[in-house]
Amino acid sequence: MKYISAPILSNTAISPELFVMELKADIPIKAGQFIMIKLPDNARILPRPISVFNYDPSSKTLSLLIRKRGAGSELLSTLTTGSSLDIFGGLGKGFDSTHNNKKIILMGGGEGIAPMLLCSNLLKEHNDITILAGFRHEVESSCLDYFDQDLDISYTALDHQEQCARGFVTDLLDNESEPDYIYTCGPIPMMEAIHRMILAKNWNTLLFASMESHMACGVGACMGCTIKNNDNKPLRVCSEGPVFSSKEIFHV
Ligand SMILES: Cc1cc2nc3c(=O)[nH]c(=O)nc-3n(C[C@H](O)[C@H](O)[C@H](O)COP(=O)(O)OP(=O)(O)OC[C@H]3O[C@@H](n4cnc5c(N)ncnc54)[C@H](O)[C@@H]3O)c2cc1C
Ligand code: FES
Repeated sequence: MKYISAPILSNTAISPELFVMELKADIPIKAGQFIMIKLPDNARILPRPISVFNYDPSSKTLSLLIRKRGAGSELLSTLTTGSSLDIFGGLGKGFDSTHNNKKIILMGGGEGIAPMLLCSNLLKEHNDITILAGFRHEVESSCLDYFDQDLDISYTALDHQEQCARGFVTDLLDNESEPDYIYTCGPIPMMEAIHRMILAKNWNTLLFASMESHMACGVGACMGCTIKNNDNKPLRVCSEGPVFSSKEIFHV
């Protein structure tokens, strides 16, 4: 797979730490996949993996939801319309978006909500979709404006004002009836807590979690992104994931 040059169509701050970047990119994308971005700065050699927030195949518009975490993402936040980025993807095994007539809950923590937008867009026509999101700061919930507002959407924030509940996204799961599937992405303790809640409730729900890891090649060649499965065997997040069945990776 080769890098392509993707022109930046827009780059919009939606909170002090989060921004949405739109790129023109004619690439094959599935829900839950990620792309690698080469930083336009020779000081940082390794490309950065970022999930696909949305992809419109008719206009070839790729959207990314990015948190400013370190120097690389900080630099990306400063780029303006008209400049370009070298990217490649879509990479990895994403979420299955081919279900019909299922109850599916999409749960994200912070920027972990990113893969859930394309999932919801692909699944909403034939399934019952609920979005549950958790944020540190309520202002970050403005990323939910990108979702179809006819969907059932709830969120929590640790610094809640009036619009939402205080607390963690897992609190919202207590109000739900048993779904067929839960897809999740976000901090590992959050995803493990969802796994434990499913077990505690005796639900038959299948949970799929998108894992994060530091990456170098992005295509399964360097073993730099491995995590351990329940049998202590290495799994490459970039090529065998990033989406895994929770039964494979969480020891509970
Ligand atoms: C498959 C995948 C999808 C991702 N999707 C998104 C996304 O949609 N939006 C988004 O904002 N971020 C996403 N990330 C995380 C993103 O790749 C990192 O935040 C980014 O590489 C940080 O680069 P930086 O140069 O800003 O920070 P650095 O200077 O490289 O690091 C800043 C701090 O963040 C930590 N960090 C960096 N990368 C990671 C990582 N992968 N996991 C855990 N800690 C890390 C570092 O240890 C350091 O403490 C994803 C990561 C993976 C593996
Ligand atoms: S990043 Fe190289 S094997 Fe995953």
